[in-house]
Amino acid sequence: MSKYDVIIKNGTIITASDIYQADIGIKDGKVVEISTAIGDDAAKVIDAKNKYVIPGGIDAHTHLDMPFGGTFSSDDFQTGSKAAAIGGTTAVIDFSVQPGGGTLADALRIWKEKAEKACIDYGFHIAITNCDDNAIKEIPEMMEEGVTSFKVYMVYDGMRVDDEAFMKILEKSAECHALVGVHCENYYVIKHLTEELLAAGKVEPKYHAVSRPAKCEGEAANRAIKLAEMTNAPLMIVHNTCEESISRIKEARDKGIKVMAETCPQYLLLSEDNYEEPDFGGSKYVMSPPLRDKKNWDYIWKQIKDGVISTVATDHCPFFLEQKRLGIDNFAKIPNGAPGIEARIPLMFTYGPKHGLSLQKVVEVTSTNPAKIYGMYPQKGTIAVGSDADIVIFDPEKKVTITKSMMHENVDYTSYEGFELEGYPVMTLSRGDIIAENGEYVGEEKRGKYIKRGIGEIM
Ligand code: URP
Ligand code: ZN
Ligand code: ZN
Repeated sequence: MSKYDVIIKNGTIITASDIYQADIGIKDGKVVEISTAIGDDAAKVIDAKNKYVIPGGIDAHTHLDMPFGGTFSSDDFQTGSKAAAIGGTTAVIDFSVQPGGGTLADALRIWKEKAEKACIDYGFHIAITNCDDNAIKEIPEMMEEGVTSFKVYMVYDGMRVDDEAFMKILEKSAECHALVGVHCENYYVIKHLTEELLAAGKVEPKYHAVSRPAKCEGEAANRAIKLAEMTNAPLMIVHNTCEESISRIKEARDKGIKVMAETCPQYLLLSEDNYEEPDFGGSKYVMSPPLRDKKNWDYIWKQIKDGVISTVATDHCPFFLEQKRLGIDNFAKIPNGAPGIEARIPLMFTYGPKHGLSLQKVVEVTSTNPAKIYGMYPQKGTIAVGSDADIVIFDPEKKVTITKSMMHENVDYTSYEGFELEGYPVMTLSRGDIIAENGEYVGEEKRGKYIKRGIGEIM
C-alpha cells in the first residue's frame, strides 16, 4: 500500500498568498503533505515541471439547465461540469430558482435532482422569486441545508422582486448571516426603453444594449446598496459591467458598508461592438446586463487589482443559436445569457497579468475569494494540508487559440472565438481524482458531490 494515492512533483504552487516550488502528497481525496522532498511512494506520480499548480477554479455564478425565456440553458450539470473541469474549474455554485407557486425547499430539491449528473462538486444559491412570508421563514431552514446565499433579481418578469420584498429578504439575511446576491438593473427604465425601441421598429439584437444603459445598472446598484445599508445585510452585486455600478460599490465600501462585487470575463474582454456581428450574430452576446463600451475595461481590471471587485465568475448561461432565434423579430425575446464556464481560468491567466494582476491575484479572484465568501474555505479554494485535492496543473507555455471546435460546452458558439491564450490547464484533479487531461474529460460520470456550505466571510 503506497503512502500517497497521488504525488504532484516539481511544480510551482500558486495560491492567493504565495508562489513556491514544492511537491504535494494526496491521500483519500485530501492534500496531506506539501514539502520539497516528498519521494515517490504513490500509486500515481505526476510530474508538473515548468507548470503552475493552482487550486481548482470555483465558478460562483452559473445557470445550468435553467428555465429562461421559454427555453432552458443548454448545458446541464453533466455537460457543463465536464466543460468546467477541462477548463480548470472544480466547483460551481449554481442558481436554483424558486419555481412559480413553489417554495425554496422545492427549488433546492429540483436543483439537487438536476445536479445528480454533475462531474465536479457543486453548491447552490437560491433565487427567491416569490417573496411571501413562507419564503422568508425558509431562509434559515435553507441555511441548515447548506444554502447560505440567496439571489434577488431586480429585473425579469416572473423572477424579479420589488424593493419591499428585497428589503424583507435583506432583513432576514442580516439576522441569520446569509449573503444576498443581486442582479442590479432598473426594471421600469428597461421596460419603457424597450417599448419605445420596438415601437420604432428597432428590433435587432444591438438594441438589447440600448434598452439597458449603464446608468440603469448604476441606479439599481446604488438602490441595492442603500437597502443593504439600512438593513446592515451583507450584499454581493453580481456581474458588474461598468463604472456606473462599480464606482458606487467602491464609495460604499470606503464607508464601511458590507457590499462586495463580482464581474465576469465578458465584461473585461468583449464590448457592445460585438452586437454588430452580422446575420443575427449579435444575439450570441445578448446577456443582461449587456456588454458595454470598451472604455470600461481598464476601469474594471483596476478595481479587481485594487480589491474592490472580489470575484470573477462566468454567469455561464448558454443557448444554441436556434434558441436565440426566439427573438429573431424582437430583441426582448432573445434568451439572455452566454457560455463561458470553460474558458474563464485560461482567459484570466492570460489577460489578468497583462492588466497588472499578479498570478496570486488571479487565483484569489477565481478560486480563493469565492471559497471564502460562499463558505467553502479552506475545504476548497486553496492548496493546503487538509484541503480537498481540487488542483489544476496549468501549462503557462501552452499557446491556444480559442475556437468553438475545441470547446466542450453544449452550445454552437463561443464568445471568445479567436482569442489567443498564453497557457492552458493540462490536468484537473477533483478530490484527488484525475478528471480532465489535455482537453478531455477522463473522470467518472456523476462523481460530483453537493457542498454543504457554511457562513461565508465578508471581504
Ligand atoms: O443574461 C444573463 N445574465 N442570463 C442569466 C441570468 C442572469 O441574469 O444572471
Ligand atoms: Zn443576472
Ligand atoms: Zn446570472
